[in-house]
Amino acid sequence: MRSFMTRGRFALLTTVIMAGAGLVLSPGQAQEKASGARSDAKSLEKPLAAVYYGQAAAQADTQSVEGLIGQGSGDTWACASCHGDRGQGAENVPRLAGLPAGYITKQLHDYANRRRLNDNMQYVVEGLTDDQMAALGRYYAEMESPSSARPGLSGDLDRGRELALQGDWSLDVPACYSCHGSSGWGVGQAFPALAGQHPSYTYNQLASWKSGRRANSPINLMHNVAMALSEHDMRSVADYLASLPAAPGGRQAGLDTPAPGQLPPVERAASSQQGSADHE
Ligand code: HEC
Ligand code: HEC
Repeated sequence: MRSFMTRGRFALLTTVIMAGAGLVLSPGQAQEKASGARSDAKSLEKPLAAVYYGQAAAQADTQSVEGLIGQGSGDTWACASCHGDRGQGAENVPRLAGLPAGYITKQLHDYANRRRLNDNMQYVVEGLTDDQMAALGRYYAEMESPSSARPGLSGDLDRGRELALQGDWSLDVPACYSCHGSSGWGVGQAFPALAGQHPSYTYNQLASWKSGRRANSPINLMHNVAMALSEHDMRSVADYLASLPAAPGGRQAGLDTPAPGQLPPVERAASSQQGSADHE
């Protein structure tokens, strides 16, 4: 009974994010937001922020940030100096290549708004405009780069695979892939790829959600997942995900992101409540 309720709640939450995408902003609002330096993100701190940012990224000019990525500018450090020249990351510095453009852009805003805490990244985003953040999102989303991650946390790969593919309903944990895609390559703009990510980074994020230090996932989805995972489970799933090939870049670059209202039908967690769900 307990897990039946949880499945229902899970399906509803997922539907809100997946199906509500077309409701987040009217095209007029999106255009209004697309101009201007740094928006007041308050109105965007909604489950669908990544979908909105994906729209902005689809229109962004990536050439404008190539200098920022390779050489840095003024007080801003070059992204590549930490994230690698192929966006591959290392250890606690995440792989960025092939993450959804909207997700990346949202994270940059989250650091800027102190919704996500990290000293290095807060310093980095200090001087960035909305347009630059969107262009950085698109740039890394389009980047093609093989995974350089390898399991290294002595996790149990079988247990990790089980959590990824099936979840563990005795713990109220849905399959990671039910949100992050059937190969762990991400879904749309809001659900990032996990496959090929460095295990210590993945582990740290799960531990941060569990402790409440990272609290920026839409409607607390990841907080609820991480709360249920043991230390051993977190190491196991992080190692398993690190053993997989990374998502190919460009797939979710934002270029092919449908405009609001034109999104494809929701593929899972179908529910009649999508029209009336109040996600505001
Ligand atoms: C001094 C090293 C450093 C530099 C320079 C740096 N980053 Fe980071 N970045 C990090 C670290 C460390 C993290 C992980 C922080 C955390 O745990 O929240 C991170 C996290 C991120 C994330 C979150 C990724 C995710 O999967 O959620 C994004 C996006 C990002 N950086 C983009 C950039 C961009 C774009 C630049 C250049 C404008 C940049 N970073 C420059 C070290 C750096
Ligand atoms: C109900 C949907 C849902 C499920 C199930 C789920 N996630 Fe997530 N996850 C999300 C969303 C949404 C985000 C993006 C959070 C944000 O915007 O900051 C996310 C982000 C993450 C991130 C951060 C990625 C990064 O680059 O920083 C990690 C790591 C993660 N999830 C791991 C997992 C693991 C492991 C599981 C399974 C044990 C799992 N997730 C199950 C929805 C989900």
